Amino acid sequence: MLDLINKQIRRVPTWTVYILGILPAAWVIFTGLQAVDPVRGIEWGLGLWAVRLLIATLFISPLRWIGLNLLKFRRQLGLVAFAYVVLHFTAWLTIDMGLRWSQILPDLYKRWYIIIGMSALLLLIPLAVTSNNASIRKLGAKTWNRLHKLAYLATGLAMVHFLMIGKVYTVEVLTYAAILVLLLGVRIYRNGAQSLLPV
Ligand code: HEM
Repeated sequence: MLDLINKQIRRVPTWTVYILGILPAAWVIFTGLQAVDPVRGIEWGLGLWAVRLLIATLFISPLRWIGLNLLKFRRQLGLVAFAYVVLHFTAWLTIDMGLRWSQILPDLYKRWYIIIGMSALLLLIPLAVTSNNASIRKLGAKTWNRLHKLAYLATGLAMVHFLMIGKVYTVEVLTYAAILVLLLGVRIYRNGAQSLLPV
């Protein structure tokens, strides 16, 4: 059965991920504009999809362990996740803060959840920049793999950022946190804790 699914998946072009990746953003903007608070609706929606897509990218390896091979889409999925992080950040800068730099700059070092979110974003930049074959050749597969393990730290920080925002922990945020803990736990159980570290 999985063989059949893998065979069908091999036929799907990787650019499909980019096309599908546009849909949540379109939905977030469409529903956000009709919300009572469109700024929050759009900013939160993009952040939420960033979390979902970051976690989905980390799911590709464990799925392969059980025989489902989606590896050919991992790069595209990771890049789409990064695009959502950038869009979420851009929404904060523009529609939320109105590019008021006198307010933005203090927020960047005074508010802990912003500092943590910003750290996650900064960690993802080298991963996005090196998500191409030329970088794998230049860095060598070993170094490249080590660098890309930063995805675990970045997603962990993104989760902490998400947890810090709510005054109460909703079922939603706890569900994402539980999925991430489970995902990392399975990886540590199978490959050891060093498999999460860029060593
Ligand atoms: C990997 C990076 C990031 C991810 C995955 C992420 C994700 C999220 C999520 C899921 C939410 C809450 C949405 C909800 O409650 O439904 C959120 C809220 C928010 N994020 Fe991020 N975020 C990231 C980085 C950033 C950065 C870099 C900034 C700004 C510098 C930022 C600013 C905010 C703000 C202002 C809120 C709303 C807080 C509030 O309404 O009280 N985030 N983010």
